[in-house]
Amino acid sequence: MAVGDSRVTNYDTIADKYDRRYTLHRYDGIRDTILSFLGSAERSAILEVGCGTGHWLQVMSGRARIVAGMDVSANMLSRAREAAPLASIVRARAEQLPWRAAAFDRIVCVNALHHFTDREGFFAEARRILESGGGLLTIGLDPHTERDEWWVYDFFPETRAIDRARFVPVRIIRGEITKAGFAWAESFETDRLETQFSLRDAFPNGVERAFTSQLTVLTDAEFGAGLARMRDAGDDVRLTADLRLYATLGWLS
Ligand SMILES: C[S@@+](CC[C@H](N)C(=O)[O-])C[C@H]1O[C@@H](n2cnc3c(N)ncnc32)[C@H](O)[C@@H]1O
Repeated sequence: MAVGDSRVTNYDTIADKYDRRYTLHRYDGIRDTILSFLGSAERSAILEVGCGTGHWLQVMSGRARIVAGMDVSANMLSRAREAAPLASIVRARAEQLPWRAAAFDRIVCVNALHHFTDREGFFAEARRILESGGGLLTIGLDPHTERDEWWVYDFFPETRAIDRARFVPVRIIRGEITKAGFAWAESFETDRLETQFSLRDAFPNGVERAFTSQLTVLTDAEFGAGLARMRDAGDDVRLTADLRLYATLGWLS
């Protein structure tokens, strides 16, 4: 499969393993950025687009009169219903948000934008359903900075090119957000995931594709070759991650 071909993660098949990431990393930076984006006053309505299993919905619960989460994956959403029982959960696509104009004052989108087939369509929809003065927060990797180190990129080298194809640089995200009608946009580093663990400690039963979407989109041959590289390196090999996550904020006037 050529790099740049669409490699789509089916989250329905990995929903039961998805939350493993939250036991390996704390993501305090993301949490702080979301909470400061929401502010100290009670908000009227918050939406998380691509909410997955509801990890961030849980954090946002109680911070607005309405907290809503939407996602395209039914299996991710059934976990979100358990994680955030007070949130309103809706199955839909980011490119066509089923809400009236000006329904929310904050929209959050964490680690999901790179999956959307029409990013600009999503930004136009976010603009439409935000009220005046409302804000959009997106958080994700920017592999174009070439500052990241990750054992996934090392053992499964195809994933680096796949990520460069599906994640756009944050300056492009800012451009698209202002093109959609937001008054201004800014980006900053929000979290840095720095970890080292042994293969044996982290994955006693072997690495599973469900660990991260980068692995789910590999062909069986690519995934098998990566596992063989890991086996050759031995159980005590250190798995290093040094990944930066960037927040981009867009504000309506
Ligand atoms: C990496 S997960 C992030 C989940 C959650 N935001 C978190 O940070 O834990 C990406 C999510 O985006 C969802 N997704 C992918 N494409 C989508 C689309 N077009 N519209 C809505 N959700 C989508 C997936 O189903 C998945 O649950």
